[in-house]
Amino acid sequence: MKKILLATGAFVAVAALGLTGCSSDNGRGGDASTDSGSGFDANSLIGVALPDKTSENWVLAGGLFEDGLKDAGFEGDVQYAGASNAVADQQQQISTMVTNGAKVIIIGAKDGAQLGTQVEQAHDAGAIVIAYDRLIQNTDAVDYYVAFDNFKVGQLQGQALLDGLAAKFPDKTTYNIELFSGSSDDANAPVFFQGAMDVLQPKIDDGTLKVVSGQTDIAQTATDGWKPENAQRRMDTLMQGTYQSETVDGVLSPNDTLARAIITSVKDAGQAELPIVTGQDSEAASIPLIMSGEQYSTIYKDTRELVKTAIEMAQTLQKGDKPDTTTETDNGNVKVPTLYLDPVIVTKENAAEAYANNPDLEALTK
Ligand code: BGC
Repeated sequence: MKKILLATGAFVAVAALGLTGCSSDNGRGGDASTDSGSGFDANSLIGVALPDKTSENWVLAGGLFEDGLKDAGFEGDVQYAGASNAVADQQQQISTMVTNGAKVIIIGAKDGAQLGTQVEQAHDAGAIVIAYDRLIQNTDAVDYYVAFDNFKVGQLQGQALLDGLAAKFPDKTTYNIELFSGSSDDANAPVFFQGAMDVLQPKIDDGTLKVVSGQTDIAQTATDGWKPENAQRRMDTLMQGTYQSETVDGVLSPNDTLARAIITSVKDAGQAELPIVTGQDSEAASIPLIMSGEQYSTIYKDTRELVKTAIEMAQTLQKGDKPDTTTETDNGNVKVPTLYLDPVIVTKENAAEAYANNPDLEALTK
């Protein structure tokens, strides 16, 4: 618990301040015609391509980008990929933004490994590409990446699981747990999982944690499309098989949508005591569950802050300056200049404090 309380001090701080940008190269290999140093018109078109509406953060981001880009004097074009053919849809939307002359294209990738052609097209047309929340992989044509530190998110989730288990089951020395991870087409999913395993693996190795199903491989724990029905189905199967004669004490859930599905499954299976379940995103539907103790933790990644930071990057580029970055992230081809914001772990104990800057969320802690 102590670690969790300490972590709240890190409150959604934009780490850029005071830290110098690591890269003076915007990733486009010195092509003068596409150098951000030239800037562009203040009322230029800025495209935003978002993946889907599977989590509240994505739903919020659309409106925030619409308003924020308008307030900044840009012409905004905000698009979501359609549910049925999301990858092709997003590819098409980005191409259209390029054709329409967007100067910056901000992309929350549906599948970060399948946008190479489109971002290269963007570069050829002189547009600057910002990967938003999810990294775009295996291409040189990504200039910046802005996100909450995904590895840290995973570490906070892993630590929360350990803290929650110790607090809820003071008499136990070993705990039965299960692991869930996100969608395999999301570059964030393995990073969250690796961060969590960084904390949990030593406790699995020393026998404190027992993954009763034996499913510790990311391929076994993945949740296709981040869809709650997929997590619920897997948890139902575990409850009906592995947990017929055992109880599950804890579940690593990578986000809130999946946490709620997992909790529903355990309840449906009739287990008397709910396990410690982690989460992410501070979704409105999960905060009351955290206050009532059904879900143990979530992560606060203030979408308002992330959108604002992405728009500020566009404003800096518009002036012909280089945005501040805090680190670099290897996308398989290049090291992408990256600006990470700090995620905050939230439990019942610090929720009111953590959401003090966000009246909508704070109200849910009452
Ligand atoms: C985001 C998470 C979100 C998940 C599912 C990830 O890429 O970082 O915040 O829960 O996608 O939408």
